[in-house]
Amino acid sequence: MFNRSVYKSRRDALKKELKSGIALFPGNVDAAFNYPANQYHFRQDSNFSYFFGLDNPGFAGVVDVDNNKDYIFGNDVDMDDIIWMGAQPLVKDLAAQVGVENSFPYNDLADFLKKAITQGRKIHFLPPYRGETVIELSALLDIPNAEVKSHASVDLIKAVVKQREIKDKNEIAEIEKAMFTAYVMHTTAMKMAMPGMVEQDIAGTIEGISLALTGPVSFPVILSVDGQTLHNHSHHNVLEKGRMMVTDAGSETALHYASDITRTVPVGGKFNARQAEIYQIVLDANMNAIKAIKPGVLYRDIHFLAARTIVDGLKAAGLMKGDTEAAVQAGAHTLFLPHGLGHMMGLDVHDMEGLGEDYVGYDETVSRSTEFGTAYLRLAKALKPGFVLTVEPGIYFIPDLIDQFRNEGKFLDFVNYDKLETYKDFGGIRIEDDVLVTPDGCRVLGKPIPKTIEEVEKTMAEPREWIKKENFI
Ligand code: GLY
Ligand code: MN
Ligand code: MN
Repeated sequence: MFNRSVYKSRRDALKKELKSGIALFPGNVDAAFNYPANQYHFRQDSNFSYFFGLDNPGFAGVVDVDNNKDYIFGNDVDMDDIIWMGAQPLVKDLAAQVGVENSFPYNDLADFLKKAITQGRKIHFLPPYRGETVIELSALLDIPNAEVKSHASVDLIKAVVKQREIKDKNEIAEIEKAMFTAYVMHTTAMKMAMPGMVEQDIAGTIEGISLALTGPVSFPVILSVDGQTLHNHSHHNVLEKGRMMVTDAGSETALHYASDITRTVPVGGKFNARQAEIYQIVLDANMNAIKAIKPGVLYRDIHFLAARTIVDGLKAAGLMKGDTEAAVQAGAHTLFLPHGLGHMMGLDVHDMEGLGEDYVGYDETVSRSTEFGTAYLRLAKALKPGFVLTVEPGIYFIPDLIDQFRNEGKFLDFVNYDKLETYKDFGGIRIEDDVLVTPDGCRVLGKPIPKTIEEVEKTMAEPREWIKKENFI
């Protein structure tokens, strides 16, 4: 974990912002996989982790704003636990590691909260996303299960977003560790993308690399030659020449910071002319967007810059026509790019999405569109130094969507549907980088992962390395 002063200053900043009441952060509990004692890998709640750092299941953290006190509620292990898990530090010693002086057994939390409620004090909590947490909050605060989410504190959500969206240098260093692992995962996937391989061979290998170098993958690996399906988690296809493989994958560090990278490569190692043409358009969109990132700019405007680059490119390829600006205004690009340019990234791969995308990616001045495609933007608001976000334009040829738009007579002035028919077997391309907004622009994080056509082809021609950190430094 970080130094205790990091967690203490985060809690102090929260107190300043929240002004009054009690902020309750239930940590996660162990979750059963297929029977109670066989559990999923434990993943701490990101908000608990941000303010209290500890990775133990069954803890809760409390920030008492009114009395300027912090608490950990959790139980010391008993002899049964020691026999199976080995000796563990006492809760009070764990609490001290993150600068918390007050620790009590977990069962004391209910009385602590009851007393505060009787005193008329406000208990702030964040929207829960696990059933166990809903049930626990319901019992602790005497709110029916179905109503727990609606009692989440908007003041606390806004305060947490304000803090977590700005990453400090410790957090950037942690994200760069996750980026390094992503470098190894993606360069390995590139070298394995040869005819005859099954997608699962590669998906399993890169998930293993993540575990070997940092920790679990930061989200289930997306890897497919059917790249037109945005989040494709089925990995049964055999790779064949003439297809491209989309790999969208990242790792999570021991402190739970993520990476999230996408690369698209030609099976066999050489782009054909049609692939290279479309690939270059997506790459141009990715690089134009990155060039435009700086504080004060709306990410929605950068999204539309990427959209214009895509329309210009598709016009040159004969798949679109007409005035670029008018095509984007009309939303014609959404046939090819039906998602937003990117999202915040940090302790969650879609950072803070559990708090509500509208609180994270939008604000009082920028609200969500209701239009197809543009409504899916996860991040639209003005950028600030310290934001870490993804830049992930794509071009997808989704046969069902092409048919639907054509049958509805949509965008006839902007789309060459006859030529598009010949691309229904193409798949899709996405290129995703993770970027830090700096005071005067931005920096692409991590060791550069091959992404130009030349870099990708060169990497694919090189032999694989043994998965040892030293072999990649
Ligand atoms: N990894 C999912 C995404 O790129 O948003
Ligand atoms: Mn991704
Ligand atoms: Mn992403």
